[in-house]
Amino acid sequence: MNFQLKPGLLLGAASAATQIEGGSQNNSWHAWYRKGRIKDGSDPSVATDHYVRWQEDLELMAGMGIQCCRLGVEWSRVEPEDGVFDDAVIAHYREELQALVGRGIRPLLTLHHFSNPLWLEEKGAFAKRDNITYFLRFVRRMVEGVGDLVSEYITINEPNVYACNGYFEGTWPPGKRNLLETARVMTNLTAAHIEAYGLIRKTRLQMGFTDTKVSFANHLRVFAPQNPADPVHRFWASRAEQLFQNSLTRAMCTGRTAFPIGHHPSIVPGQYCDFHAINYYARSTVSALAGGRADGPVNDLGWEIYPQGIVETAQRVYSLLPRPIYITENGTCDNTDRFRARYIAEHLQAICESELPIERYYHWCFCDNWEWLEGNSARFGLVHVDYETQARTVKSSGEFYRQVIAQGGVSDELYSRFCDVPYPTGREGA
Ligand code: BGC
Repeated sequence: MNFQLKPGLLLGAASAATQIEGGSQNNSWHAWYRKGRIKDGSDPSVATDHYVRWQEDLELMAGMGIQCCRLGVEWSRVEPEDGVFDDAVIAHYREELQALVGRGIRPLLTLHHFSNPLWLEEKGAFAKRDNITYFLRFVRRMVEGVGDLVSEYITINEPNVYACNGYFEGTWPPGKRNLLETARVMTNLTAAHIEAYGLIRKTRLQMGFTDTKVSFANHLRVFAPQNPADPVHRFWASRAEQLFQNSLTRAMCTGRTAFPIGHHPSIVPGQYCDFHAINYYARSTVSALAGGRADGPVNDLGWEIYPQGIVETAQRVYSLLPRPIYITENGTCDNTDRFRARYIAEHLQAICESELPIERYYHWCFCDNWEWLEGNSARFGLVHVDYETQARTVKSSGEFYRQVIAQGGVSDELYSRFCDVPYPTGREGA
């Protein structure tokens, strides 16, 4: 393998506040932990202690040559009680953002990433239409607080995953299993995004900035029929794709709705994303509503590794609305760091061989992180975290990523040194 990075493509890393910061017990995910719902019992209020150790993490990032950084803010910290904002927390985020910018690392700020303050969760969070106003109040406050330092925003991370896991499968907070409520949550998230899109742009304009870019992070998968010749498999693959991602993507980007997105006065035809933000991990094989079985290589969580999917999904959203594309998450659970470098190389190669205007690649994740239901047991980081001591060590894949950034591509030599390893296969990984 030998390729140069696309001209203009920036390489970075992504994270989410709840998964790394530690220190907050006032949110829906800590409550889920208290209910005993995290598989390995690990506590999100510990995580990687990034809220305290952020300077050390920033030094490591700078050492790796990271060019752009997607990070989140913890709403439950900023607004611990309904209407009570903690200015010291906003000042903390300002300090971190200022340090990033000072190092020449471009920030992309996520405002909502799965976690809700407890007071909002108790009011029904995004299942209640009226609660969108709380999100907008928080968004305005954050943008007024840090808008001079950040021009690029993600309103909501993966609304489909949030809605499906929390309201359809019931495995995430608040643990509901109700199709109509799932559709309602998706609809309200769409409205929340559309309103926040306008609000962020307007707030920064009032602050004198005209370079604002806003989107939402779209979790996109390739849905493949297990047997392409079987019409039942094809039917369920296209249904799953429609219900899980296509309707929501279209509504959030263009305000045009189809089931499961319903009516809301704020969802009207328009253009609501300045760039496409894609979180891409895997291909799903479908044979019925409940899914099928992947035969290809998989990661340590059993997710199929399918690098070409990163451009197949990008192509779909680009056809919907031609906008620059940011890969706002891509990475893999590789607990012993055997094949992560190969995974990165192959996904970057697919990006660089495509004609699409892909401008950013944010690897998920910079450090190992608290991985929602999996707790600390699933490792996605370029940097290893010892959860006993919180010691950080750059992994071999982190060193590979540093060299890719430094050399502006992947050479045969780099590939054979870091990537020439087999992937796990279906049976080992699942
Ligand atoms: C989420 C991250 C998560 C990652 C890996 C994405 O769906 O945005 O929060 O850690 O996948 O599971």
